[in-house]
Amino acid sequence: MSTQNRREFLRTVAVGSMAVGGAVALAGCELGSFGFEHGVASGDPLAHRVVIWTRVTADEAMQEIWKKLEAEAAGSLQARQRWLESRSVPVAWEVARDSAFAQVVARGAVPARPDADFTVKVDVTGLRPGTTYYYRFNCLGAISPVGRTRTLPHGTVEQVRLAVVSCSNYPAGFFNVYARIAERDDLDAVVHLGDYLYEYAAGGYASEQAAALGRVVDPAGETLSLADYRARHAQYRRDPDAQAMHAALPMIAVWDDHEIANDAWKDGAENHSDATEGSWVARRAAAIRAYHEWMPTRLPDPARPERIFRSFDFGNLVSLHMLDTRLIGRDRQLALTDFVGPAGFDAAGFAAAIGNPARQLLGAEQTAWLQTQMSRSQAKWQFLGQQVLMGRMNVPLPLLQGTPVSVYAAAAAKAQAGLPLTAQEAALLAQPSLPYNLDAWDGYAVARETVLGFARSLDRNLVVLAGDTHNAWANDLADASGVNIGVEFATPSVTSPGFETIFPDEDPLAFAGALQQLIGPLVYADTSRRGYLEVEARHEQVQARWIYVDTVVARSSGATVGRSLRTLPGAGGRRIVEV
Ligand SMILES: [Fe+2]
Repeated sequence: MSTQNRREFLRTVAVGSMAVGGAVALAGCELGSFGFEHGVASGDPLAHRVVIWTRVTADEAMQEIWKKLEAEAAGSLQARQRWLESRSVPVAWEVARDSAFAQVVARGAVPARPDADFTVKVDVTGLRPGTTYYYRFNCLGAISPVGRTRTLPHGTVEQVRLAVVSCSNYPAGFFNVYARIAERDDLDAVVHLGDYLYEYAAGGYASEQAAALGRVVDPAGETLSLADYRARHAQYRRDPDAQAMHAALPMIAVWDDHEIANDAWKDGAENHSDATEGSWVARRAAAIRAYHEWMPTRLPDPARPERIFRSFDFGNLVSLHMLDTRLIGRDRQLALTDFVGPAGFDAAGFAAAIGNPARQLLGAEQTAWLQTQMSRSQAKWQFLGQQVLMGRMNVPLPLLQGTPVSVYAAAAAKAQAGLPLTAQEAALLAQPSLPYNLDAWDGYAVARETVLGFARSLDRNLVVLAGDTHNAWANDLADASGVNIGVEFATPSVTSPGFETIFPDEDPLAFAGALQQLIGPLVYADTSRRGYLEVEARHEQVQARWIYVDTVVARSSGATVGRSLRTLPGAGGRRIVEV
Protein backbone atom coordinates (compact mmCIF):
# COMPACT_ATOMS: atom_id res chain seq x y z
CA MET A 1 0.00 0.00 0.00
CA SER A 2 1.37 3.42 -0.88
CA THR A 3 2.01 5.87 1.96
CA GLN A 4 -0.51 8.23 0.49
CA ASN A 5 -3.19 5.55 0.37
CA ARG A 6 -2.46 4.39 3.90
CA ARG A 7 -2.74 8.00 5.14
CA GLU A 8 -5.98 8.39 3.24
CA PHE A 9 -7.38 5.16 4.71
CA LEU A 10 -6.43 6.21 8.25
CA ARG A 11 -7.96 9.66 7.69
CA THR A 12 -11.26 7.94 6.78
CA VAL A 13 -11.14 6.13 10.11
CA ALA A 14 -10.84 9.41 11.99
CA VAL A 15 -13.79 10.87 10.09
CA GLY A 16 -15.72 7.64 10.67
CA SER A 17 -15.15 7.70 14.41
CA MET A 18 -16.58 11.18 14.67
CA ALA A 19 -19.45 10.28 12.39
CA VAL A 20 -20.54 7.44 14.66
CA GLY A 21 -20.07 9.32 17.92
CA GLY A 22 -17.29 6.94 18.91
CA ALA A 23 -15.16 9.55 20.64
CA VAL A 24 -15.75 7.91 24.00
CA ALA A 25 -14.63 4.59 22.61
CA LEU A 26 -11.52 6.20 21.17
CA ALA A 27 -10.60 7.58 24.58
CA GLY A 28 -10.33 4.02 25.89
CA CYS A 29 -8.58 2.63 22.89
CA GLU A 30 -5.11 3.46 24.06
CA LEU A 31 -5.62 0.46 26.34
CA GLY A 32 -7.53 -1.92 24.11
CA SER A 33 -7.62 -2.83 20.48
CA PHE A 34 -9.68 -4.58 17.86
CA GLY A 35 -9.23 -7.28 15.26
CA PHE A 36 -11.08 -9.23 12.55
CA GLU A 37 -11.06 -12.84 13.80
CA HIS A 38 -13.95 -13.86 11.56
CA GLY A 39 -12.44 -12.66 8.32
CA VAL A 40 -14.28 -10.84 5.56
CA ALA A 41 -17.02 -11.80 3.13
CA SER A 42 -19.01 -10.43 0.23
CA GLY A 43 -22.35 -11.35 -1.21
CA ASP A 44 -25.46 -10.62 -3.23
CA PRO A 45 -23.54 -9.16 -6.18
CA LEU A 46 -25.50 -7.18 -8.75
CA ALA A 47 -24.19 -5.42 -11.85
CA HIS A 48 -23.37 -2.20 -9.97
CA ARG A 49 -23.22 -3.21 -6.30
CA VAL A 50 -22.13 -5.83 -3.84
CA VAL A 51 -22.44 -6.33 -0.08
CA ILE A 52 -19.16 -6.49 1.86
CA TRP A 53 -19.05 -7.89 5.41
CA THR A 54 -16.80 -8.21 8.42
CA ARG A 55 -16.99 -8.49 12.19
CA VAL A 56 -14.97 -6.54 14.71
CA THR A 57 -13.57 -8.43 17.68
CA ALA A 58 -12.43 -6.60 20.80
CA ASP A 59 -9.30 -7.85 22.55
CA GLU A 60 -9.34 -8.74 26.25
CA ALA A 61 -8.11 -5.30 27.33
CA MET A 62 -10.94 -3.65 25.42
CA GLN A 63 -13.47 -6.02 26.93
CA GLU A 64 -12.15 -5.13 30.39
CA ILE A 65 -12.68 -1.44 29.62
CA TRP A 66 -16.25 -2.17 28.59
CA LYS A 67 -16.84 -4.13 31.77
CA LYS A 68 -15.59 -1.22 33.91
CA LEU A 69 -17.75 1.25 32.01
CA GLU A 70 -20.73 -1.05 32.41
CA ALA A 71 -20.16 -1.23 36.17
CA GLU A 72 -19.97 2.57 36.34
CA ALA A 73 -23.05 2.78 34.18
CA ALA A 74 -25.16 1.22 36.89
CA GLY A 75 -24.85 4.57 38.72
CA SER A 76 -26.44 7.00 36.28
CA LEU A 77 -28.34 7.33 33.04
CA GLN A 78 -25.54 9.48 31.66
CA ALA A 79 -22.96 6.81 32.46
CA ARG A 80 -25.15 4.18 30.86
CA GLN A 81 -25.37 6.26 27.67
CA ARG A 82 -21.59 6.66 27.75
CA TRP A 83 -21.19 2.89 28.11
CA LEU A 84 -23.51 2.20 25.18
CA GLU A 85 -21.72 4.74 22.98
CA SER A 86 -18.35 3.35 23.98
CA ARG A 87 -19.35 -0.03 22.57
CA SER A 88 -20.03 1.34 19.10
CA VAL A 89 -16.78 0.92 17.19
CA PRO A 90 -15.87 2.92 14.05
CA VAL A 91 -14.92 0.87 11.02
CA ALA A 92 -13.63 2.27 7.74
CA TRP A 93 -13.92 0.33 4.50
CA GLU A 94 -12.54 0.69 1.03
CA VAL A 95 -12.99 -1.01 -2.34
CA ALA A 96 -10.31 -0.98 -5.04
CA ARG A 97 -9.68 -2.34 -8.51
CA ASP A 98 -6.37 -3.86 -7.37
CA SER A 99 -5.25 -5.89 -4.38
CA ALA A 100 -2.63 -3.25 -3.47
CA PHE A 101 -5.39 -0.62 -3.16
CA ALA A 102 -3.67 1.80 -5.53
CA GLN A 103 -6.97 2.36 -7.39
CA VAL A 104 -9.57 2.87 -4.67
CA VAL A 105 -13.04 3.37 -6.18
CA ALA A 106 -15.17 3.65 -3.04
CA ARG A 107 -14.64 4.21 0.65
CA GLY A 108 -16.58 5.11 3.76
CA ALA A 109 -17.09 4.44 7.44
CA VAL A 110 -19.77 2.68 9.45
CA PRO A 111 -20.16 1.74 13.10
CA ALA A 112 -19.85 -1.84 14.32
CA ARG A 113 -22.61 -1.92 16.89
CA PRO A 114 -23.34 -4.30 19.75
CA ASP A 115 -26.96 -4.64 18.60
CA ALA A 116 -25.64 -6.20 15.37
CA ASP A 117 -23.15 -8.41 17.27
CA PHE A 118 -20.35 -6.10 15.97
CA THR A 119 -20.92 -7.32 12.43
CA VAL A 120 -20.60 -4.74 9.66
CA LYS A 121 -22.30 -4.82 6.29
CA VAL A 122 -21.92 -2.25 3.55
CA ASP A 123 -23.90 -2.33 0.31
CA VAL A 124 -21.26 -0.79 -1.96
CA THR A 125 -22.79 0.99 -4.96
CA GLY A 126 -21.55 2.66 -8.14
CA LEU A 127 -19.44 -0.31 -9.29
CA ARG A 128 -18.82 -1.53 -12.83
CA PRO A 129 -20.47 -4.75 -14.11
CA GLY A 130 -18.52 -7.98 -14.49
CA THR A 131 -15.53 -6.53 -12.63
CA THR A 132 -13.26 -7.97 -9.93
CA TYR A 133 -12.77 -5.75 -6.87
CA TYR A 134 -10.79 -5.97 -3.64
CA TYR A 135 -12.00 -4.71 -0.27
CA ARG A 136 -10.80 -4.36 3.32
CA PHE A 137 -11.76 -2.81 6.62
CA ASN A 138 -9.87 -0.74 9.19
CA CYS A 139 -10.80 -0.48 12.86
CA LEU A 140 -8.71 2.11 14.67
CA GLY A 141 -5.57 1.05 12.87
CA ALA A 142 -6.21 -2.68 12.75
CA ILE A 143 -6.56 -3.70 9.10
CA SER A 144 -8.64 -6.70 8.02
CA PRO A 145 -7.62 -9.40 5.56
CA VAL A 146 -8.26 -8.38 1.94
CA GLY A 147 -11.34 -9.81 0.26
CA ARG A 148 -11.87 -10.31 -3.46
CA THR A 149 -15.30 -9.99 -5.01
CA ARG A 150 -16.96 -9.61 -8.39
CA THR A 151 -20.00 -7.78 -9.73
CA LEU A 152 -22.44 -9.54 -12.04
CA PRO A 153 -21.98 -9.08 -15.78
CA HIS A 154 -24.73 -7.40 -17.78
CA GLY A 155 -25.74 -7.03 -21.42
CA THR A 156 -24.53 -9.79 -23.73
CA VAL A 157 -22.91 -12.45 -21.56
CA GLU A 158 -21.18 -15.50 -23.03
CA GLN A 159 -20.48 -17.55 -19.91
CA VAL A 160 -21.42 -17.80 -16.24
CA ARG A 161 -19.71 -20.23 -13.89
CA LEU A 162 -20.97 -20.92 -10.37
CA ALA A 163 -19.97 -23.22 -7.51
CA VAL A 164 -23.02 -24.63 -5.73
CA VAL A 165 -22.79 -25.95 -2.16
CA SER A 166 -25.01 -27.02 0.73
CA CYS A 167 -24.95 -28.75 4.11
CA SER A 168 -21.69 -27.56 5.67
CA ASN A 169 -21.79 -29.25 9.07
CA TYR A 170 -18.88 -28.19 11.32
CA PRO A 171 -18.69 -31.23 13.66
CA ALA A 172 -18.98 -33.67 10.72
CA GLY A 173 -15.61 -32.72 9.25
CA PHE A 174 -13.29 -30.22 7.64
CA PHE A 175 -14.53 -27.80 5.00
CA ASN A 176 -12.13 -29.12 2.33
CA VAL A 177 -14.82 -28.33 -0.23
CA TYR A 178 -14.65 -24.66 0.71
CA ALA A 179 -10.84 -24.75 0.45
CA ARG A 180 -11.03 -26.16 -3.11
CA ILE A 181 -13.53 -23.47 -4.13
CA ALA A 182 -11.36 -20.75 -2.56
CA GLU A 183 -8.44 -21.79 -4.78
CA ARG A 184 -10.38 -21.10 -7.96
CA ASP A 185 -10.25 -17.81 -9.79
CA ASP A 186 -12.60 -18.74 -12.64
CA LEU A 187 -15.95 -18.55 -10.80
CA ASP A 188 -18.50 -15.73 -10.81
CA ALA A 189 -19.96 -16.58 -7.39
CA VAL A 190 -20.62 -19.37 -4.90
CA VAL A 191 -24.26 -20.28 -4.33
CA HIS A 192 -25.08 -21.74 -0.89
CA LEU A 193 -28.40 -23.58 -0.86
CA GLY A 194 -28.69 -23.84 2.90
CA ASP A 195 -27.70 -25.75 6.00
CA TYR A 196 -24.83 -23.28 6.18
CA LEU A 197 -24.76 -24.33 9.84
CA TYR A 198 -26.53 -26.87 12.05
CA GLU A 199 -28.44 -26.23 15.26
CA TYR A 200 -27.68 -29.41 17.19
CA ALA A 201 -26.00 -29.70 20.58
CA ALA A 202 -22.51 -31.14 21.02
CA GLY A 203 -22.73 -34.89 20.51
CA GLY A 204 -25.80 -34.47 18.27
CA TYR A 205 -26.21 -35.35 14.61
CA ALA A 206 -23.03 -36.24 12.66
CA SER A 207 -20.76 -35.52 15.64
CA GLU A 208 -19.21 -38.97 16.08
CA GLN A 209 -15.72 -37.74 15.21
CA ALA A 210 -16.11 -34.11 16.29
CA ALA A 211 -13.96 -34.40 19.43
CA ALA A 212 -11.19 -36.25 17.59
CA LEU A 213 -11.23 -33.60 14.83
CA GLY A 214 -11.28 -30.68 17.29
CA ARG A 215 -14.66 -29.62 15.93
CA VAL A 216 -17.04 -29.86 18.89
CA VAL A 217 -19.73 -27.24 18.49
CA ASP A 218 -20.04 -23.99 20.40
CA PRO A 219 -22.28 -23.36 22.23
CA ALA A 220 -22.54 -26.87 23.70
CA GLY A 221 -26.32 -26.84 23.73
CA GLU A 222 -28.78 -26.75 20.84
CA THR A 223 -29.09 -23.22 19.45
CA LEU A 224 -32.30 -21.59 20.71
CA SER A 225 -31.61 -17.95 21.61
CA LEU A 226 -30.11 -15.05 19.68
CA ALA A 227 -26.89 -15.44 21.69
CA ASP A 228 -26.79 -19.16 20.78
CA TYR A 229 -27.22 -18.60 17.04
CA ARG A 230 -24.66 -15.77 17.07
CA ALA A 231 -22.10 -17.94 18.85
CA ARG A 232 -22.68 -20.81 16.39
CA HIS A 233 -22.24 -18.49 13.39
CA ALA A 234 -19.08 -17.10 15.01
CA GLN A 235 -17.62 -20.59 15.38
CA TYR A 236 -18.32 -21.50 11.76
CA ARG A 237 -16.71 -18.26 10.64
CA ARG A 238 -13.54 -18.88 12.59
CA ASP A 239 -12.99 -21.89 10.33
CA PRO A 240 -10.01 -21.03 8.06
CA ASP A 241 -11.50 -22.72 4.97
CA ALA A 242 -14.80 -20.87 5.39
CA GLN A 243 -12.82 -17.64 5.72
CA ALA A 244 -10.75 -18.42 2.62
CA MET A 245 -13.82 -19.11 0.49
CA HIS A 246 -15.66 -16.01 1.69
CA ALA A 247 -12.58 -13.87 1.06
CA ALA A 248 -12.22 -15.27 -2.47
CA LEU A 249 -15.76 -15.05 -3.88
CA PRO A 250 -19.11 -13.35 -3.42
CA MET A 251 -21.76 -15.66 -1.97
CA ILE A 252 -25.43 -15.86 -2.88
CA ALA A 253 -27.12 -17.74 -0.05
CA VAL A 254 -30.50 -18.91 1.17
CA TRP A 255 -31.23 -20.78 4.37
CA ASP A 256 -32.61 -24.29 4.58
CA ASP A 257 -33.95 -25.81 7.81
CA HIS A 258 -30.87 -26.20 10.01
CA GLU A 259 -30.11 -22.48 10.17
CA ILE A 260 -33.20 -22.57 12.41
CA ALA A 261 -34.16 -26.20 13.28
CA ASN A 262 -34.47 -29.56 11.49
CA ASP A 263 -37.38 -30.00 9.06
CA ALA A 264 -38.68 -26.50 9.63
CA TRP A 265 -41.95 -25.36 8.09
CA LYS A 266 -43.70 -22.02 8.45
CA ASP A 267 -45.15 -22.63 11.92
CA GLY A 268 -42.72 -25.09 13.49
CA ALA A 269 -40.09 -27.75 12.99
CA GLU A 270 -39.51 -31.43 13.69
CA ASN A 271 -36.64 -30.40 16.02
CA HIS A 272 -38.57 -27.80 17.99
CA SER A 273 -40.85 -28.12 20.99
CA ASP A 274 -42.76 -25.09 22.23
CA ALA A 275 -43.22 -26.83 25.58
CA THR A 276 -39.53 -27.32 26.33
CA GLU A 277 -37.75 -24.85 24.01
CA GLY A 278 -39.98 -21.79 24.13
CA SER A 279 -41.89 -20.06 21.37
CA TRP A 280 -41.20 -21.01 17.75
CA VAL A 281 -41.84 -17.44 16.67
CA ALA A 282 -39.12 -16.12 19.01
CA ARG A 283 -36.65 -18.84 18.02
CA ARG A 284 -37.25 -18.25 14.32
CA ALA A 285 -36.80 -14.49 14.76
CA ALA A 286 -33.52 -15.01 16.65
CA ALA A 287 -32.17 -17.40 14.00
CA ILE A 288 -33.15 -15.05 11.16
CA ARG A 289 -31.60 -12.06 12.89
CA ALA A 290 -28.30 -13.84 13.52
CA TYR A 291 -28.31 -15.15 9.93
CA HIS A 292 -28.54 -11.69 8.41
CA GLU A 293 -26.01 -10.28 10.86
CA TRP A 294 -23.45 -12.92 9.93
CA MET A 295 -24.16 -13.63 6.25
CA PRO A 296 -23.39 -11.19 3.40
CA THR A 297 -27.04 -10.99 2.35
CA ARG A 298 -29.00 -8.01 1.08
CA LEU A 299 -32.58 -7.83 2.39
CA PRO A 300 -35.07 -7.31 -0.44
CA ASP A 301 -37.31 -5.66 2.19
CA PRO A 302 -35.51 -4.54 5.38
CA ALA A 303 -38.84 -4.43 7.21
CA ARG A 304 -39.27 -8.17 6.56
CA PRO A 305 -36.02 -10.02 7.34
CA GLU A 306 -37.87 -13.32 6.87
CA ARG A 307 -38.17 -12.58 3.14
CA ILE A 308 -35.12 -13.94 1.31
CA PHE A 309 -36.52 -14.83 -2.13
CA ARG A 310 -34.72 -12.61 -4.63
CA SER A 311 -33.30 -12.70 -8.18
CA PHE A 312 -29.85 -12.20 -9.73
CA ASP A 313 -29.50 -11.41 -13.45
CA PHE A 314 -26.33 -12.40 -15.32
CA GLY A 315 -27.07 -10.29 -18.40
CA ASN A 316 -28.94 -12.07 -21.17
CA LEU A 317 -27.63 -15.50 -20.15
CA VAL A 318 -28.92 -16.51 -16.68
CA SER A 319 -31.56 -15.31 -14.26
CA LEU A 320 -30.99 -16.95 -10.89
CA HIS A 321 -34.10 -16.93 -8.70
CA MET A 322 -33.24 -17.78 -5.10
CA LEU A 323 -36.20 -19.32 -3.27
CA ASP A 324 -37.28 -20.04 0.28
CA THR A 325 -38.97 -23.46 0.39
CA ARG A 326 -38.61 -23.55 4.17
CA LEU A 327 -39.98 -20.75 6.30
CA ILE A 328 -42.10 -18.32 4.41
CA GLY A 329 -44.90 -20.45 3.01
CA ARG A 330 -44.36 -24.17 3.66
CA ASP A 331 -47.26 -26.16 5.08
CA ARG A 332 -46.41 -28.96 7.48
CA GLN A 333 -44.81 -32.06 5.98
CA LEU A 334 -46.85 -35.24 5.47
CA ALA A 335 -45.53 -38.56 6.82
CA LEU A 336 -46.03 -41.95 5.17
CA THR A 337 -46.61 -43.43 8.63
CA ASP A 338 -49.73 -41.26 8.98
CA PHE A 339 -51.31 -43.38 6.25
CA VAL A 340 -50.60 -46.82 7.69
CA GLY A 341 -53.60 -48.35 9.45
CA PRO A 342 -54.77 -51.82 10.47
CA ALA A 343 -55.66 -52.47 6.80
CA GLY A 344 -52.17 -51.53 5.59
CA PHE A 345 -51.14 -48.49 3.58
CA ASP A 346 -54.00 -46.17 2.66
CA ALA A 347 -52.91 -45.37 -0.90
CA ALA A 348 -56.09 -43.44 -1.75
CA GLY A 349 -55.84 -41.30 1.38
CA PHE A 350 -52.18 -40.58 0.68
CA ALA A 351 -52.87 -39.65 -2.96
CA ALA A 352 -55.64 -37.29 -1.84
CA ALA A 353 -53.36 -35.60 0.72
CA ILE A 354 -50.48 -35.18 -1.75
CA GLY A 355 -52.89 -33.90 -4.39
CA ASN A 356 -54.52 -31.32 -2.10
CA PRO A 357 -54.25 -28.11 -4.14
CA ALA A 358 -54.28 -25.96 -0.99
CA ARG A 359 -50.94 -27.31 0.29
CA GLN A 360 -48.13 -24.82 -0.22
CA LEU A 361 -44.34 -25.04 -0.40
CA LEU A 362 -43.47 -21.50 -1.56
CA GLY A 363 -46.62 -19.79 -0.34
CA ALA A 364 -48.91 -17.62 -2.47
CA GLU A 365 -46.80 -14.45 -2.37
CA GLN A 366 -43.54 -16.12 -3.41
CA THR A 367 -45.30 -18.22 -6.07
CA ALA A 368 -46.76 -15.10 -7.68
CA TRP A 369 -43.39 -13.35 -7.43
CA LEU A 370 -41.60 -16.25 -9.14
CA GLN A 371 -44.06 -16.25 -12.01
CA THR A 372 -43.53 -12.50 -12.47
CA GLN A 373 -39.72 -12.86 -12.32
CA MET A 374 -39.68 -15.68 -14.86
CA SER A 375 -42.00 -13.85 -17.24
CA ARG A 376 -39.97 -10.61 -17.01
CA SER A 377 -36.57 -12.23 -17.49
CA GLN A 378 -35.14 -12.14 -20.99
CA ALA A 379 -32.26 -14.47 -20.06
CA LYS A 380 -31.65 -17.71 -21.93
CA TRP A 381 -31.70 -19.82 -18.75
CA GLN A 382 -33.91 -19.64 -15.69
CA PHE A 383 -32.07 -21.06 -12.69
CA LEU A 384 -33.90 -21.80 -9.44
CA GLY A 385 -31.50 -21.72 -6.45
CA GLN A 386 -33.40 -23.58 -3.78
CA GLN A 387 -33.16 -26.12 -1.01
CA VAL A 388 -34.98 -29.41 -1.59
CA LEU A 389 -35.06 -31.94 -4.46
CA MET A 390 -37.65 -31.25 -7.13
CA GLY A 391 -37.13 -34.51 -9.07
CA ARG A 392 -39.68 -37.31 -8.72
CA MET A 393 -38.11 -39.92 -6.46
CA ASN A 394 -40.72 -42.66 -6.31
CA VAL A 395 -39.19 -45.63 -4.55
CA PRO A 396 -40.70 -49.16 -4.39
CA LEU A 397 -42.46 -49.65 -1.05
CA PRO A 398 -40.38 -52.77 -0.11
CA LEU A 399 -37.24 -50.61 -0.06
CA LEU A 400 -38.88 -48.23 2.41
CA GLN A 401 -39.74 -51.28 4.54
CA GLY A 402 -36.16 -52.57 4.65
CA THR A 403 -35.72 -54.90 1.66
CA PRO A 404 -32.09 -54.43 0.52
CA VAL A 405 -31.82 -52.44 -2.70
CA SER A 406 -29.65 -55.19 -4.23
CA VAL A 407 -32.35 -57.84 -3.61
CA TYR A 408 -35.09 -55.71 -5.12
CA ALA A 409 -32.95 -54.63 -8.07
CA ALA A 410 -32.06 -58.26 -8.84
CA ALA A 411 -35.76 -59.21 -8.96
CA ALA A 412 -36.52 -56.19 -11.15
CA ALA A 413 -33.68 -57.13 -13.52
CA LYS A 414 -35.01 -60.71 -13.79
CA ALA A 415 -38.48 -59.42 -14.63
CA GLN A 416 -37.07 -57.06 -17.23
CA ALA A 417 -35.15 -59.93 -18.85
CA GLY A 418 -38.33 -62.04 -18.98
CA LEU A 419 -36.94 -64.69 -16.61
CA PRO A 420 -39.35 -66.62 -14.36
CA LEU A 421 -39.84 -65.05 -10.90
CA THR A 422 -40.29 -66.80 -7.57
CA ALA A 423 -43.56 -66.07 -5.74
CA GLN A 424 -41.59 -63.92 -3.30
CA GLU A 425 -40.00 -61.88 -6.10
CA ALA A 426 -43.36 -61.40 -7.81
CA ALA A 427 -44.87 -60.19 -4.52
CA LEU A 428 -42.01 -57.71 -4.09
CA LEU A 429 -42.47 -56.28 -7.57
CA ALA A 430 -46.26 -56.04 -7.14
CA GLN A 431 -45.84 -53.40 -4.41
CA PRO A 432 -46.42 -49.74 -5.39
CA SER A 433 -43.73 -47.07 -5.63
CA LEU A 434 -44.07 -44.07 -3.35
CA PRO A 435 -42.30 -40.73 -2.92
CA TYR A 436 -40.11 -41.33 0.13
CA ASN A 437 -38.88 -37.83 0.93
CA LEU A 438 -42.00 -35.87 1.81
CA ASP A 439 -39.92 -32.92 3.02
CA ALA A 440 -38.90 -32.39 -0.65
CA TRP A 441 -41.06 -31.20 -3.58
CA ASP A 442 -42.33 -34.81 -3.77
CA GLY A 443 -44.42 -34.01 -0.69
CA TYR A 444 -45.86 -30.92 -2.42
CA ALA A 445 -46.80 -32.27 -5.84
CA VAL A 446 -49.31 -29.55 -6.70
CA ALA A 447 -46.82 -26.79 -5.84
CA ARG A 448 -44.22 -28.49 -8.07
CA GLU A 449 -46.71 -28.74 -10.94
CA THR A 450 -47.44 -25.01 -10.56
CA VAL A 451 -43.77 -24.04 -10.96
CA LEU A 452 -43.21 -26.45 -13.86
CA GLY A 453 -46.38 -24.97 -15.40
CA PHE A 454 -44.85 -21.46 -15.33
CA ALA A 455 -41.78 -22.64 -17.20
CA ARG A 456 -43.89 -24.53 -19.72
CA SER A 457 -46.40 -21.75 -20.43
CA LEU A 458 -43.62 -19.11 -20.61
CA ASP A 459 -41.47 -21.44 -22.80
CA ARG A 460 -38.44 -21.00 -20.52
CA ASN A 461 -35.34 -23.20 -20.13
CA LEU A 462 -35.45 -24.32 -16.52
CA VAL A 463 -32.43 -25.47 -14.46
CA VAL A 464 -33.22 -26.28 -10.84
CA LEU A 465 -30.36 -26.33 -8.33
CA ALA A 466 -30.94 -28.27 -5.09
CA GLY A 467 -29.11 -29.27 -1.91
CA ASP A 468 -30.46 -30.76 1.34
CA THR A 469 -29.94 -34.49 0.72
CA HIS A 470 -26.13 -34.63 1.18
CA ASN A 471 -25.89 -36.69 -2.03
CA ALA A 472 -25.44 -35.81 -5.71
CA TRP A 473 -28.33 -36.16 -8.14
CA ALA A 474 -29.30 -35.25 -11.70
CA ASN A 475 -32.95 -35.50 -12.64
CA ASP A 476 -35.05 -34.85 -15.71
CA LEU A 477 -38.02 -32.70 -14.76
CA ALA A 478 -41.24 -33.49 -16.60
CA ASP A 479 -44.70 -32.23 -15.72
CA ALA A 480 -47.58 -34.56 -14.82
CA SER A 481 -48.43 -34.98 -18.52
CA GLY A 482 -44.88 -36.18 -19.23
CA VAL A 483 -43.63 -33.13 -21.12
CA ASN A 484 -39.94 -32.33 -20.47
CA ILE A 485 -39.76 -28.98 -18.72
CA GLY A 486 -36.16 -28.81 -17.52
CA VAL A 487 -33.48 -30.46 -15.42
CA GLU A 488 -32.32 -30.59 -11.83
CA PHE A 489 -28.69 -30.66 -10.71
CA ALA A 490 -28.27 -31.33 -6.98
CA THR A 491 -25.10 -30.77 -5.02
CA PRO A 492 -23.70 -33.19 -2.45
CA SER A 493 -22.98 -31.86 1.03
CA VAL A 494 -19.82 -30.07 2.11
CA THR A 495 -19.49 -32.43 5.11
CA SER A 496 -22.84 -33.87 6.25
CA PRO A 497 -23.06 -37.67 5.89
CA GLY A 498 -25.03 -39.19 3.00
CA PHE A 499 -26.76 -42.48 2.22
CA GLU A 500 -23.55 -44.41 2.89
CA THR A 501 -24.25 -44.08 6.63
CA ILE A 502 -27.91 -45.13 6.30
CA PHE A 503 -27.09 -48.15 4.09
CA PRO A 504 -23.57 -49.08 5.22
CA ASP A 505 -23.82 -52.58 3.71
CA GLU A 506 -24.60 -51.39 0.18
CA ASP A 507 -21.76 -50.93 -2.30
CA PRO A 508 -22.07 -47.22 -3.26
CA LEU A 509 -21.66 -47.77 -7.01
CA ALA A 510 -24.16 -50.63 -7.12
CA PHE A 511 -26.53 -48.68 -4.87
CA ALA A 512 -26.48 -45.61 -7.12
CA GLY A 513 -26.86 -47.86 -10.17
CA ALA A 514 -29.90 -49.57 -8.65
CA LEU A 515 -31.52 -46.23 -7.82
CA GLN A 516 -30.99 -45.07 -11.42
CA GLN A 517 -32.56 -48.31 -12.64
CA LEU A 518 -35.58 -48.03 -10.33
CA ILE A 519 -36.27 -44.28 -10.50
CA GLY A 520 -37.22 -43.24 -14.03
CA PRO A 521 -36.25 -39.54 -14.14
CA LEU A 522 -33.00 -40.09 -12.21
CA VAL A 523 -30.02 -39.88 -14.57
CA TYR A 524 -27.14 -39.72 -12.09
CA ALA A 525 -26.61 -40.30 -8.39
CA ASP A 526 -23.64 -40.42 -6.07
CA THR A 527 -24.59 -41.48 -2.57
CA SER A 528 -21.28 -41.62 -0.72
CA ARG A 529 -19.04 -38.63 -1.50
CA ARG A 530 -18.82 -35.03 -0.32
CA GLY A 531 -18.16 -32.21 -2.73
CA TYR A 532 -19.66 -29.40 -4.75
CA LEU A 533 -21.39 -28.77 -8.02
CA GLU A 534 -19.95 -26.54 -10.71
CA VAL A 535 -22.50 -25.15 -13.15
CA GLU A 536 -21.34 -23.46 -16.32
CA ALA A 537 -23.93 -21.72 -18.48
CA ARG A 538 -23.43 -20.77 -22.12
CA HIS A 539 -26.08 -19.89 -24.67
CA GLU A 540 -25.84 -23.30 -26.31
CA GLN A 541 -25.81 -25.45 -23.14
CA VAL A 542 -25.56 -25.66 -19.36
CA GLN A 543 -22.95 -28.08 -18.11
CA ALA A 544 -22.84 -29.51 -14.60
CA ARG A 545 -19.70 -31.03 -13.08
CA TRP A 546 -19.71 -32.79 -9.70
CA ILE A 547 -16.38 -32.33 -7.95
CA TYR A 548 -15.66 -34.56 -4.96
CA VAL A 549 -13.12 -34.22 -2.15
CA ASP A 550 -11.33 -37.37 -1.03
CA THR A 551 -12.15 -37.03 2.67
CA VAL A 552 -13.62 -34.68 5.27
CA VAL A 553 -12.09 -36.31 8.35
CA ALA A 554 -8.64 -34.85 7.62
CA ARG A 555 -7.42 -31.66 6.00
CA SER A 556 -6.68 -32.79 2.46
CA SER A 557 -6.28 -31.15 -0.93
CA GLY A 558 -7.48 -34.18 -2.93
CA ALA A 559 -10.36 -33.54 -5.34
CA THR A 560 -11.67 -35.32 -8.44
CA VAL A 561 -14.31 -34.62 -11.08
CA GLY A 562 -16.92 -37.34 -10.63
CA ARG A 563 -19.21 -36.73 -13.56
CA SER A 564 -20.13 -34.13 -16.18
CA LEU A 565 -23.60 -33.80 -17.71
CA ARG A 566 -25.30 -31.09 -19.71
CA THR A 567 -28.64 -29.85 -20.96
CA LEU A 568 -29.63 -27.99 -24.12
CA PRO A 569 -32.12 -25.15 -24.56
CA GLY A 570 -35.39 -25.16 -26.48
CA ALA A 571 -38.31 -27.55 -26.66
CA GLY A 572 -36.05 -30.23 -28.17
CA GLY A 573 -33.62 -29.96 -25.25
CA ARG A 574 -34.66 -29.53 -21.62
CA ARG A 575 -33.39 -32.92 -20.53
CA ILE A 576 -30.07 -34.28 -19.38
CA VAL A 577 -27.58 -35.43 -22.03
CA GLU A 578 -24.07 -36.82 -21.87
CA VAL A 579 -21.16 -34.47 -22.40
FE1 LIG B 1 -28.29 -30.86 5.53
